[in-house]
Amino acid sequence: MTRPPLKKKVAVPLVLAVLFGLAWYVLSRLMPELPAGATDQQRMTRAANEWAVTVAQIAFWMSVALVAVRALNELTFFIFRKRKGYDAPALMRDLFSLVLFVTAGAAILKYTLDLSFAALLPGSALLGIVLGLALQDTLGNLFSGISLHADKPFQLGDVITVGKHTGVVSSITWRAVKIKTFSNHIVLVGNTSIAKESIEVCPQNGQNARIVFFSAAYTDSPVKVIHEVREAVREAENVLRYITPVVRVRGLGESGVDYEVKYWLSDYTRYNDTDALIRQRIWYAFRRNGFTFPFPTRTVLMEEVAAQNGGGRDAETLAGLLSAVDIFSPLTPEELNALALASKNHVFAPGETIIRAGDDGDSMFVVSRGGVDVRVDSNGAPRTINRLGEGAFFGEMALFTGEPRTANVVASEETEVLEIGHDAMRGLFRTNPDLVEALSHAINERRAGLLANASVSAGEEDTHDGLLSKIKRFFGLD
Ligand code: CMP
Repeated sequence: MTRPPLKKKVAVPLVLAVLFGLAWYVLSRLMPELPAGATDQQRMTRAANEWAVTVAQIAFWMSVALVAVRALNELTFFIFRKRKGYDAPALMRDLFSLVLFVTAGAAILKYTLDLSFAALLPGSALLGIVLGLALQDTLGNLFSGISLHADKPFQLGDVITVGKHTGVVSSITWRAVKIKTFSNHIVLVGNTSIAKESIEVCPQNGQNARIVFFSAAYTDSPVKVIHEVREAVREAENVLRYITPVVRVRGLGESGVDYEVKYWLSDYTRYNDTDALIRQRIWYAFRRNGFTFPFPTRTVLMEEVAAQNGGGRDAETLAGLLSAVDIFSPLTPEELNALALASKNHVFAPGETIIRAGDDGDSMFVVSRGGVDVRVDSNGAPRTINRLGEGAFFGEMALFTGEPRTANVVASEETEVLEIGHDAMRGLFRTNPDLVEALSHAINERRAGLLANASVSAGEEDTHDGLLSKIKRFFGLD
């Protein structure tokens, strides 16, 4: 609410002061003298005239007081603005004027009618009670308004939620806080309600965040979904550039994986539009990357066993992948097919441990997608001694020698591995003696790598022949 200009506020009472001053002067001049032995009629005329003079006098002084208070108010709050750099709240200005008016009024009553506040008090006690009861709500609002101005829990332009109303604070007066809702409605919340209720405040220039929910199908990799959605929303309009949005899995729902995007806004008052834009960006990210929004449906999976084991890929593709692993190159297509059917596919998130040093192990793995780090404990700190990519194998040392796992193997990115068990290998050893030979070479090479790390025990040291016969013995091939 804008205040009327000073000129207008001062001019009107000034004109009134002049008029009442003139009236006072004229009435005093016209006051008839009371002759000795005046009649009742003359006395009454004189008394009426005296009252008229007093009324004109009070009106004159009241108008002067009005001019003075308004001018003083302007001056005081002009200085306030200069010193503090912002306008004083309307409530403070109104209270300031009220106190001055009451003081001036008391002085005028004393001067003109010789009435003091103390004399008025007994008579006004009852009136006070009546007024107090009638103005209970108004006074409550006033006092709550004073404490609001002192506490300053929110400012003009902040978004607040009080009860069921959410909107932008457009004014704070001595009676109520005016909120403009997002449907452009004006809601007036009495200051007493504000003082009683809990208020949620989103400061205008604060780093306010919002959370938008979405879901993706179980077949879509969380690592990819999180990455693509984060990239898609971070540059959306009104999203704070310097805080990267957070995308995370919030639950495993009935129809799909449930996610949330937490993002920060430049202008919080536009959060409805920005939420909508974020959802739109998610839709496009899904479309570009071939992700699926899950529907609340029951899906009956009718897949071949081999496809299940191979993470959706058929046995032929997996056999092709295994044929590229150097130690399996001597195997026939039939043997590779049988190996693919007997293997199981597993998927690991970045940083997940696939093999733990010291554990027993009766299977080996082939990386079918992604990559792994081979880590050992070097003087108490983890150290990566090798990185294995697609087509590489690991876990063969424990499988073929029966000794504990020699290192930790950790997924360096989202990784799929094919697990091949003891039984599947035993059959191949009988028909492919070269396979045992190739394996013992690989194991010896890796042991050398392990031994290069002083604090690592690579298991018993064996000669090539010693290792060969150990593998044969372990698999009952002798
Ligand atoms: P295993 O001992 O069963 O479990 C840990 C695996 O890490 C081990 O088998 C090997 O497959 C692998 N590994 C150990 N040392 C090396 C190395 N120097 N280079 C590559 N892989 C290794």
